[in-house]
Amino acid sequence: MKKKILCVVGARPNFTKIAPIMQAISEHSKKLEAYLLHTGQHYDEAMKHSFFEQLNIPEPDEDLEVGSGSHAEQTAEVMKRFEPVLDREQPAAVLVVGDVNSTIACGLVASKKQIPLIHVESGLRSYDRAMPEEINRVLTDQISDLLFTTEKSALDNLLREGIDKNRVVFVGNVMIDTLLKNLENAVPMEQTLASVEGAEQVLNKSFALITMHRPSNVDDKETLTSLIDTLSELSSQLPMVFPVHPRTKMKIEEFGLMDEVTNNNILLLPPLGYLHLLGLMKNAKVVLTDSGGIQEETTALGIPCITLRENTERPVTVSEGTNTIVGSDPIKVKAAFDDVMSSGGKAGRTPELWDGNAAVRIVEYLDAWVE
Ligand code: UD1
Repeated sequence: MKKKILCVVGARPNFTKIAPIMQAISEHSKKLEAYLLHTGQHYDEAMKHSFFEQLNIPEPDEDLEVGSGSHAEQTAEVMKRFEPVLDREQPAAVLVVGDVNSTIACGLVASKKQIPLIHVESGLRSYDRAMPEEINRVLTDQISDLLFTTEKSALDNLLREGIDKNRVVFVGNVMIDTLLKNLENAVPMEQTLASVEGAEQVLNKSFALITMHRPSNVDDKETLTSLIDTLSELSSQLPMVFPVHPRTKMKIEEFGLMDEVTNNNILLLPPLGYLHLLGLMKNAKVVLTDSGGIQEETTALGIPCITLRENTERPVTVSEGTNTIVGSDPIKVKAAFDDVMSSGGKAGRTPELWDGNAAVRIVEYLDAWVE
C-alpha cells in the first residue's frame, strides 16, 4: 500500500510550487500518494480558483477555510484547524512549500507531532527580519527533517544556522518546472486585455509589467506614494500594465492614490490567473516587482527584472540572472529603468537545475527516503 504524504498549500505562490509536485507524485512515485490540504489563506476567485484550474491542481482533499486575519490570528487558526486533520489522516510525512504563514503554521503542528516535515524551497534568506516571510523561512527550516533547495546559496545559509547538511538536497526550482511546462499555454495578452479600456496603449507595443504587494512597499503611505509617483513618471517613457493585489488596491484607495495611478499610461487590472500573467510577463520589455517568484521567473525567461526591494532571498537571480535590486529609492529605480531603455537591461543565464525536472527529482528522492 502507498504511504500518504500530506501536501499543504495556502497562498498564491504556493500553488505554482505544488502543481508539479502533485503531478510527479501521481505519475512517478512508487511509494507515495498525495493528500492535498488547502488552508484557505487565499480564497478569492482570482487568488485561488483560477490557479487550481489553470495549473491542473486536483481539488484539495480538504480546505480549512481560514481566510484573512492578523499574522497571529491567521497562523493560530491554521494550527488549530490542522491538528485534527493530522490526527485523523496519520500521514507518513507533511510537505510544505515556500514561506507563507500557512507554511510555518502546518510545519509547526506536524513537527510537534513528530511527523516528518519536508520543506520545498528551503534555505533562502533575505536577512531582513522585518519581512514576515523571513521569519517563516528560518523557523520552518529549523524544524524540517528534509530540506529541498532551489539554489546553491541556500546550503550556506542553512549550515550557518546549524542545520545538518545531510538533510539538505539541492534539486532545483519547482516553480520553474511550472513555468516551462506552461509557457506555450500562456493566455495571449490580446485575450487578457480584450475588454480592458485603454488596452491599445500596450498591445503590440513595448510595455513594462508591474506587480507590488509587499507590506514594506504598500502599507506605508509615504513609500507607496513615492513608488506610485516614480512609476507614473516613468510610464510616460514606456506604458505599464499593473495587475493589482487585493492588499495593494486597499492601500491605494486608503491613501487616495487611485487618481494618480489611473491618470497616466498605467493600465490597472485585477489580480490575474497564472496563465494570464505569464502571457503578459513573457511579452514585457521589463518587469518591476517586489515578488519573490517573479524575480525567478523573469530570470528563467531572460527578461530584465527591477526589484523594488532592498534585498533578495534569491541571490542567484542577481549573480546569474536578469535581476537588479533597487529598493524604493526613485533615483535607483530610474537608473535601472534608464538602463533598460538605453541598452535593453541586464542579460543573464539560467541557473543550475532550473530545467523543469525539480519535482521529479524530489519525488525520486522521497521514494528512496520513506521506509
Ligand atoms: C501572502 C504571503 C506572501 C505572498 C503573497 C502572495 C504571508 C505572510 N504572506 O501575502 O508571502 O507573496 O501572499 O499573494 O503569508 N485578500 C483578499 N483575498 C484573498 C486573500 C487576501 O482580498 O484571497 C486580502 C485581504 O484583505 C488580506 C490581504 O489581502 O487581509 C492580505 O492577505 P494575506 O494572506 O494576509 O497576505 P498577502 O499580502 O496576500
